Amino acid sequence: MKVDGKPMRTIWVESDARTVGIIDQRYLPFEFVTRRLESVADAVLAIKTMQVRGAPLIGVTAAYGIWLALLADASDENLERAYAALLAARPTAINLKWALDQMLAAVRNRPRSERVAVALQRASEIAEEDIAINQAIGRHGLKLIEDMATKKNGGRVNVLTHCNAGWLATVDWGTATAPIYMAHDKGLPVHVFADETRPRNQGASLTAWELGQHGVPHTVIPDNTGGHLMQHGLVDLVIVGTDRVTAQGDVCNKIGTYLKALAAADNKVPFYVALPSPTIDFSVSDGIAEIPIEQRGPEEVATMTGKTKDGRIETVQVVPDGSAVANYGFDVTPARLVTGLITERGVLQANRAALAAAFPERAKLAP
Ligand code: MRU
Repeated sequence: MKVDGKPMRTIWVESDARTVGIIDQRYLPFEFVTRRLESVADAVLAIKTMQVRGAPLIGVTAAYGIWLALLADASDENLERAYAALLAARPTAINLKWALDQMLAAVRNRPRSERVAVALQRASEIAEEDIAINQAIGRHGLKLIEDMATKKNGGRVNVLTHCNAGWLATVDWGTATAPIYMAHDKGLPVHVFADETRPRNQGASLTAWELGQHGVPHTVIPDNTGGHLMQHGLVDLVIVGTDRVTAQGDVCNKIGTYLKALAAADNKVPFYVALPSPTIDFSVSDGIAEIPIEQRGPEEVATMTGKTKDGRIETVQVVPDGSAVANYGFDVTPARLVTGLITERGVLQANRAALAAAFPERAKLAP
């Protein structure tokens, strides 16, 4: 997508062919900062500290992280060390493990002299595949927006989304946003309600920023507003991303997604989840019981960062000294609350049979 009118991706190989460029998302929306990853340690830190974030982009960064590791030392021991360090960087998004397993399968049985080239090749393929998948998700999701526009006689289609499942969370296009960008580019009157998404405000700072860069009309709302909007008929569709979908169709996504799904069900608003197939984890069924939920540092809840009137970026404390805080990063929405899963192979029902039928090659590999 575009930044200041110029096409941009979230991650790229630098012209030195030895380092990886990223957009450091911690500075958005106030500053546009790019950064070079020079080592696997840089890649681990980028994932851990959320310089890059969003399930698909975490996976692609980890893939390039393996390449950076092998550039320094192509031994088996270093490959295993890099795999373990990257895997531990964030626990919930399954794309991380998927991408690492892809890299391992590509390089493991190659002689050391070939490993660097093969790793770069596979990591770049994973990045390109992410873009193609998101475009396919966009085409399938576009139909849902078009149908809604027809139902409303061409009236504005209001889509509510949570967190950032936009192009910043992927290599390009985004998952939840791909249908929105395609609808907008086609001239459909689409408008987005972006949940601010405390504690890190990915909706307010990232989704709003990228929609604005592309000219998509949007409104940032406090996290607790969605239910009210739905009760008053102001939301036509919910489309969110996800960090892991189980074999039975349970959806793990940024904390607060479950409450939006409950409100959507109560108000008969369609609740869609957009996902690339690497986000499906066929090895788990019950998302609530089986998916590890990342708990992050208390400072993300206890403080907020923003721009002062005179243009300085400052962090301020928003809870009393001494109050305990909890910072669960994700929650699980049971499959029964999901209207449909927008995948690269079409819009599926959120259940075991539909997922296995659409992705038989993945389902049959599951333990
Ligand atoms: O903690 P984050 O910012 O990595 O969480 C991101 C999300 O929850 C996204 O919505 C999800 O990864 C889907 S990404 C297309």
